[in-house]
Amino acid sequence: MTKGADVHLQDPGPRIIVALDYATEKEALSLTQKLDPQRCRLKVGKELFTRCGPKLVENLVKQEFDVFLDLKYHDIPNTVARACVAAAELGVWMLNVHALGGRRMMETARKALDNIDSAPLLIAVTVLTSLEDTDLNELGISSNTSDMVLRLADLAFQSRMDGVVCSPLEARLLREKFGTSFCLVTPGVRPKTVAVGDQKRVTSPAEAVQNGSNYLVIGRPITGADDPVKALLSIEAEL
Ligand code: C5P
Repeated sequence: MTKGADVHLQDPGPRIIVALDYATEKEALSLTQKLDPQRCRLKVGKELFTRCGPKLVENLVKQEFDVFLDLKYHDIPNTVARACVAAAELGVWMLNVHALGGRRMMETARKALDNIDSAPLLIAVTVLTSLEDTDLNELGISSNTSDMVLRLADLAFQSRMDGVVCSPLEARLLREKFGTSFCLVTPGVRPKTVAVGDQKRVTSPAEAVQNGSNYLVIGRPITGADDPVKALLSIEAEL
């Protein structure tokens, strides 16, 4: 298992993080028992975590999967820092906070994880890949999505996050600006033959990697396929 700042630079492990967006533990485990921890990592998000809780996360970690706990913490600094420590204690490989929680929130979370051995990668969400310029305008944000992503990524970088979640469309610019030691995690990845769904700022898996993405978060193109393992292998082959 690879953990800690900068490990993604030399990370020989799998780039694909399968989003386990399932309603039940049974469904999630029926997929994971067909998966190999050497070939993919797993993401546990809000739905599965809310239903199945930390026990499931610990179970996946015990099976030697690298787990990205995608709970996108966004709260006052003390609350977020304590939640990050609780997540680290589950043995997860990566966790995330919302950059919109601000500099003090991110810095406090960083400091809390700095006190932990083999801390998980701490990643900040910039602008959700389901949002477009019009959505930001409606929220009273006058920047367009790419300016806002850049601004939040810069704040995350200064706050010593290990990297950011962004769209693969923004990865090239962020890679140029923040260098190779900043980890780029990209959802919004769609093989050309698969429906885009509610994602807006998307690319193909190969384009995401060409743009500088370290890790591709892929859900429905794998979990919604008739044969999820075949879908995973075909994306792997494309990379
Ligand atoms: O099914 P799909 O491939 O769209 O799944 C993408 C996954 O990545 C979902 O679990 C979603 O919650 C997550 N995600 C995202 N955008 C972000 C952060 C995480 O789509 N900014």
